[in-house]
Amino acid sequence: MSTGFVSVAYVVASVLFILSLGGLSHQESARRGNFFGIVGIIIAVGATIASVSMGAGGIVSIVFAILIGAAIGMFLANKVEMTQMPQLVALLHSFVGLAAVFVGFAGYLDPLVKTHGAEHTIKLVEVYLGIFIGAITFTGSLIACGKLDARIPSAALTLPGRHIMNLAALGVSVLLGAWFLGADSTAEGMLPLIIMTAIASVLGVHLILAIGGADMPVVVSMLNSYSGWAAASIGFMLGNDLLIVTGALVGSSGAILSYIMCRAMNRSFISVILGGFGQTTSSSAAVDGDQTVQEYSVDEVCEELKNASSVIIVPGYGMAVAQAQNAVGEITKLLRDKGTTVRFGIHPVAGRLPGHMNVLLAEAKVPYDVVLEMDEINDDFPETDIVLVIGANDTVNPAAMDDPNSPIAGMPVLEVWKAGQVVVLKRGMASGYAGVDNPLFFKDNSWMLFGDAKDTVDKILGGLRS
Ligand code: TAP
Repeated sequence: MSTGFVSVAYVVASVLFILSLGGLSHQESARRGNFFGIVGIIIAVGATIASVSMGAGGIVSIVFAILIGAAIGMFLANKVEMTQMPQLVALLHSFVGLAAVFVGFAGYLDPLVKTHGAEHTIKLVEVYLGIFIGAITFTGSLIACGKLDARIPSAALTLPGRHIMNLAALGVSVLLGAWFLGADSTAEGMLPLIIMTAIASVLGVHLILAIGGADMPVVVSMLNSYSGWAAASIGFMLGNDLLIVTGALVGSSGAILSYIMCRAMNRSFISVILGGFGQTTSSSAAVDGDQTVQEYSVDEVCEELKNASSVIIVPGYGMAVAQAQNAVGEITKLLRDKGTTVRFGIHPVAGRLPGHMNVLLAEAKVPYDVVLEMDEINDDFPETDIVLVIGANDTVNPAAMDDPNSPIAGMPVLEVWKAGQVVVLKRGMASGYAGVDNPLFFKDNSWMLFGDAKDTVDKILGGLRS
């Protein structure tokens, strides 16, 4: 394929990726965004294969690799539960990191384009950086995946002097980089490259082990960002403009998402990466052991809902686990049809992945215009008759605002307790992801409705219909 044609294909793919990101930022346009992304990647891969001169054997092996990868990807995506999506995303980021390491070594041992002088030094820096970021992304993402999947304890590992260790690893990597750049032969350069890869791999493990469970959402999007920068550095190394653009898009959008999530949790990005926050310790200071909760029956909740003129539903992780969204959608329709104002309050980190609740509610055909972000709805709770908290916990925990010693202190939350009354649907008194007790359950205007969310919501639906 001619270079001009490939360049045009790359420009078209880049534009499609930008349109895809734009589309994914709103629920209404998310499907279109996905479609643009799929078409863009097909054009990008097709043009890249066509642009490289290789024999029939090369093309067959690439097509074979794509088919195997696609089959594994489809199998995993079909098998994985929605609630396991964050760990899958973390695992996929690790592949990008590993690819950056492999391509970096391949590009060093057998460069596609021979370079000399300053250009050669720049190429070596690109190889070195690509492998460094790639190795951190690879092992860090594996640890994040293990933590999210509860295979590794989610508590932060805070070794004494860990910042010094991290700085030392960075310093040694810089020195190894100088050795690598000054190496007289490829064989000599391999030694510092391999040592740096080992150090960066350990650094990735240590950095992510030091981050506690409550900060994991930010970590996943931060690793997403790293994987983008790793891809961009490979793009520089291979002289592939599309990979540079795509990597930069992934890198910057991941960084923006990390920033948004840090803001939602009132955390500074630096303190998240430095770790040590969000251990899954139980904070009992917020809750007096002698306190008891008030319970409602399904019939009582139905009665209150029938009499209410305004209702806010706050869904959380428990709604996703129970797969209660469709019944919640039906309750919404029923109440709206009889003239009740029903809206949803969505916390930015509700559930286990960005936009988790929005996806479930869209699946249940809840109209987009009644699904509001925390900032849009937080002032409306005092004028609301009843709030149904369905499987949410950390995101409605007043201790975040009232208890400076709480592990989630400072995280903005949905101020549901300001409503006329709050009904909390959950199975028992277990804490949420951050492992923190919740004083909401003991407030005078709070009632618990215990049981699996799907089961309970089905019963409420039946009660409202009768
Ligand atoms: P959580 O605080 O995790 O609480 C979920 C609650 O759901 C639990 O207390 C649990 O109590 C209940 N539950 C579980 N299964 C249930 C079922 N079948 N039926 C009814 N209730 C059930 O949820 P949240 O308020 O959505 O907060 C999300 C948390 O996850 C935050 O701490 C956030 O930082 C973290 N996180 C978020 C993300 C993203 S990106 N969204 C990623 C990773 C972590 P019972 O066991 O007593 O029923």
